[in-house]
Amino acid sequence: MTVNRKRIKSRPAAVLIGFMGAGKSTVGKLVAELLGVDFVDADEEIVRVVGRSIPEIFAEDGAPAFRDIERRVVLDLLTRGGVVSLGGGAVMTTAIADALAEHRVVYLSIDPAEGYARAQGSDRPLLAGEDPETRYRELLNERHDTYAGLATVAVDAGAGSAEQVADAVVAALADYLIPERNFP
Ligand code: S3P
Repeated sequence: MTVNRKRIKSRPAAVLIGFMGAGKSTVGKLVAELLGVDFVDADEEIVRVVGRSIPEIFAEDGAPAFRDIERRVVLDLLTRGGVVSLGGGAVMTTAIADALAEHRVVYLSIDPAEGYARAQGSDRPLLAGEDPETRYRELLNERHDTYAGLATVAVDAGAGSAEQVADAVVAALADYLIPERNFP
């Protein structure tokens, strides 16, 4: 389960990355509860800051503008405490990937069939085209190595309930979560 070791900053307690449908928000919330720290979802923070939904931002401003906002919001969140979950594409922004090198990063991996079953029918702009399942698989293929390369630990998000996955995340992070005073 452990992917690599690195020099780690004390906050946030953990950053969850992974593809659409992996359950980053649900599991992140549960991990935060287990650790007794705050939880923040980067997409929700973007919606709060901009005052519009993510589909609206993509439709009205375009993907590059969304990525720009996402970069600013995520870099700010990485200076705060708690558990943070990132949108699936955030790691493809170089400044975010670079910043993650110093954090405890949990890659919630998901089998493509299971992930697509969970993500389909949502209003995610990247799955709004003609053949969303093919698009889902292509994007996951493109991103998998980036997720894996940034991960401190990787946990299979398809292995059990959200509660069981959250338990597995906390167990996997145990080596990296030693001094309680580091939890904000
Ligand atoms: C995106 C994933 C979404 C959201 C946006 C773009 C992506 O977040 O940030 O629609 O590029 O994979 P989730 O991973 O939470 O669905």
